[in-house]
Amino acid sequence: MPLFGLGTWMMGGDFKRNPDNDGQADIASLICGIEHGLTHIDTAEMYAEGFAEEISGQAIKGHIRDNLFITSKVWSDDLSYDGVLRAAENSIKRLGTNYLDLYLVHKPNDQFPMLETIKALDRLADEGIIKNIGVSNFSLERFKRAQQICEHKIVANQVHYNLINREPEKELLGFCQQNDVMLIAWRPLQKGAIIDVKYPFFDELCDKYHKTRAQIALNWLLSQDNVTTISTMRSICHIEENLAALNWKMSDEDIEILRCEFPSQEHVSATVSLS
Ligand SMILES: NC(=O)c1ccc[n+]([C@@H]2O[C@H](COP(=O)([O-])OP(=O)(O)OC[C@H]3O[C@@H](n4cnc5c(N)ncnc54)[C@H](OP(=O)(O)O)[C@@H]3O)[C@@H](O)[C@H]2O)c1
Repeated sequence: MPLFGLGTWMMGGDFKRNPDNDGQADIASLICGIEHGLTHIDTAEMYAEGFAEEISGQAIKGHIRDNLFITSKVWSDDLSYDGVLRAAENSIKRLGTNYLDLYLVHKPNDQFPMLETIKALDRLADEGIIKNIGVSNFSLERFKRAQQICEHKIVANQVHYNLINREPEKELLGFCQQNDVMLIAWRPLQKGAIIDVKYPFFDELCDKYHKTRAQIALNWLLSQDNVTTISTMRSICHIEENLAALNWKMSDEDIEILRCEFPSQEHVSATVSLS
């Protein structure tokens, strides 16, 4: 899957659709990203009550579908067998496509037996409606349980991971690297907060590699095997800046110094703890 992609959280609203946002600016920023070569769009039925998927659908119109990698997610209220099938059908309609490259369980919900959810995902994969099955915000233990009952390989776990939030490093990252599973890092810039962290070594690296702090933070994530990421970028300058985080390497030593010394590290995600 593509190393770096376009996130859609906060496009067209948040949990609720924003009636003052007609989506046009968000569509334009996604088109700009695609035209700059970003082929992965990450969306979800929950984002803006489905409107983010409609926005994504408008943005991909006119582009060759097979050149794109579209991820969507089934929300945690829809994890019954029928709920998953219905959610996937609705997502596909809103996106104006006939398949998803990757379909994720957005976050776990123990009210629904995992077997039901996974059976529905297996069926969608058998029917070619989804090319790959994945999960999001799953602990390693839960991931392994899901894989035990899933007939297809669960190819990805999308989790909160960045220079500040290190929860996946406890056990998930190593497992992904050893088992050919992609760890998709959400919130790679901690919504921009990483850029404001006071840490002199950050600036030394910026000087050394002629890069910005955002580029260092993204490159650090992507320097790790099996890690990909997605960022929300509604401004063209952020798209262009972040793209320059790709296709170069920091030294192993610098990567390790960032891993060990970056300040304010948290080992439990403040947003969604892996459950
Ligand atoms: N699975 C999950 O539970 C889950 C949870 C959260 C997010 N996600 C996914 O992950 C994607 C990314 O996460 P996120 O949006 O929360 O976090 P993020 O990508 O770390 O932060 C996005 C914010 O940072 C700004 N930004 C982007 N590039 C920047 C740069 N170079 N310098 C300064 N600011 C920059 C953006 O501004 P502009 O928009 O103004 O350009 C936006 O406000 C989401 O869109 C969503 O698809 C998944």
